[in-house]
Amino acid sequence: MFRTHNLGELNITNKDQQVTLCGWVHKTRDLGGMTFIDLRDRYGITQLAFNLEKNSELCLKARSLGREFVIQVAGKVIERSSKNLQISTGEIEIEVLQLNILNISKTPPFTIEDQSDGGDELRMKYRYLDIRRNVIKDNLLLRNKISLETRKYLSNIDFIEVETPYLIKSTPEGARDFIVPSRMNQGQFYALPQSPQTFKQLLMVGGMDKYYQIVKCFRDEDLRADRQPEFTQIDCEMSFVDQEEILMTFEGLTKHLIKEIKGVEINEFPKISYDEAISLYGSDKPDIRFDMKFIDFTKSSKGYNFQVFDNAEIIIGFVVKGCANFSRKQLDKLIDFVKTPQVGATGLIYCKFNEDGTIKSSVDKFFSDEIKNIWKENASCNEGDLLLMMSGETEKTRKALGTLRLKLAEDLNMRNPKEFAPLWVVDFPLLEWDEDSQRYHAMHHPFTAPKTEDIAKIKTDPKSVRANAYDLVLNGNEIGGGSIRIHDKELQKQMFTHLGFTDEEAKEQFGFLMDAFEYGAPPHGGIAFGFDRLCAILGGEESIRDFIAFPKNNSGRDVMIDSPSYISKDQLDELKIRNL
Ligand code: AMO
Repeated sequence: MFRTHNLGELNITNKDQQVTLCGWVHKTRDLGGMTFIDLRDRYGITQLAFNLEKNSELCLKARSLGREFVIQVAGKVIERSSKNLQISTGEIEIEVLQLNILNISKTPPFTIEDQSDGGDELRMKYRYLDIRRNVIKDNLLLRNKISLETRKYLSNIDFIEVETPYLIKSTPEGARDFIVPSRMNQGQFYALPQSPQTFKQLLMVGGMDKYYQIVKCFRDEDLRADRQPEFTQIDCEMSFVDQEEILMTFEGLTKHLIKEIKGVEINEFPKISYDEAISLYGSDKPDIRFDMKFIDFTKSSKGYNFQVFDNAEIIIGFVVKGCANFSRKQLDKLIDFVKTPQVGATGLIYCKFNEDGTIKSSVDKFFSDEIKNIWKENASCNEGDLLLMMSGETEKTRKALGTLRLKLAEDLNMRNPKEFAPLWVVDFPLLEWDEDSQRYHAMHHPFTAPKTEDIAKIKTDPKSVRANAYDLVLNGNEIGGGSIRIHDKELQKQMFTHLGFTDEEAKEQFGFLMDAFEYGAPPHGGIAFGFDRLCAILGGEESIRDFIAFPKNNSGRDVMIDSPSYISKDQLDELKIRNL
């Protein structure tokens, strides 16, 4: 046996036992007559003790060990004289009788500590060393727990996991496909799935009834902290359900995960429409851990010779409680922030309702205290509160104010990662206009059903048609999205026509699905969770990268294996691909 115990399990109850242990040399301390080594593995750290007087040869061998050497020791569990009650093994140490070096190690390029001195690129290049650090290790353990709990929950309510293929045909999720050349079908390509969308619908036609899969998806899109080119979904689909039943089922799963992983019980999730989300928070994924809802001042604030307001389509603002004492410098910083290209606003108006009853605003020249008191009442402001306002074109202004809302919440520490505020956003528009291609695109995907009551408007007023689609938002992040699907061939055909597909194009790309719909497709719908995002949020972070064992960097590269890379001329020839 290589080892009798791992390095996190021995404690005072094992005193006097003979044990054999294996692990990595974490730290060595030489105290003259004694040498101590912290030996580390996935489970923890156990202290090894070597006595120079009792066994000088062994002690000198221990002193020669470098960081990250892999060793095996045999010895006796003894009680420590100076105990460390911070760790579970802190009351004991091992009096080592035998030491075996299993492997040597170069000095690692950064320290394997919680606070690493390795920059991002270095950590990515030596990711296997990074994984030895508690931070990344714990994230991967968390991820494992969340996937186990997901499987347990879904399997208990009759979902079955079915694998779907990775070498497929384009799926229209809105990003670019990664493509794979086919050697056996020269000149032809597979696409890697952006999601298993069409397959899970076919599984419903196949009578599987309740499907799920923890599955890799591939999307060639610009990367951000919450996006990777390959990422994982908890992908789900159900037959004979309406929207309400789907929301209930996956609200159940989300509550279960938050309870099991964080020990936090969540009540019923609020549900708001897309339109409400945009007009109250300037975002379809609002963070509702804090309030700062938008208030509309358009009616009350025009006609006072303030051109910025008079020429605006919309005038909106929100209240920052207790912040009337913001200094000029703090306000200027906010104004600079909204003018950055990232926010893109032209300016920001403030109005301080001071504790002493006075009012001070950046537009005192145009607005009397009487008007400002109307604002105060509209916004339910109190003395001591700060009102921030923006005006301009509706969509842009809401978006910019939404960005400011998040920044202020961040600055004021209102985005507590230990708090969980989920909500459903429903009634998304079915279609969105794409300026570049001058046509409508499906906002979710082309298989999403329109709301029955809106179907008639598809031709006359396509923009106003709502979809039977929903997103699950957690702490300002979209962690899931889904819809009730079209299961009727004719409606699906119509939908493709509205999206600008000719009959031939629709048949070529999705003929298989339309064919399937001719053989008794049940009403069905589903959802997919962004698994990496869920793990990150439950781990208290927003960036998903450190919750993935081997992620890509911001240019989509894996710097450890150096991929993507060129391939040999032979390989290109075999695939009949011309060298660039
Ligand atoms: P959607 O495209 O909304 O829906 O994706 C579902 C969820 O996947 C996550 N996600 C990502 N996570 C990391 N990196 C990415 N590049 C990335 N892209 C998406 C998000 C998102 O909410 N087939 C439909 C689902 C359905 O209709 O059932 C789909 O894929 O958290």
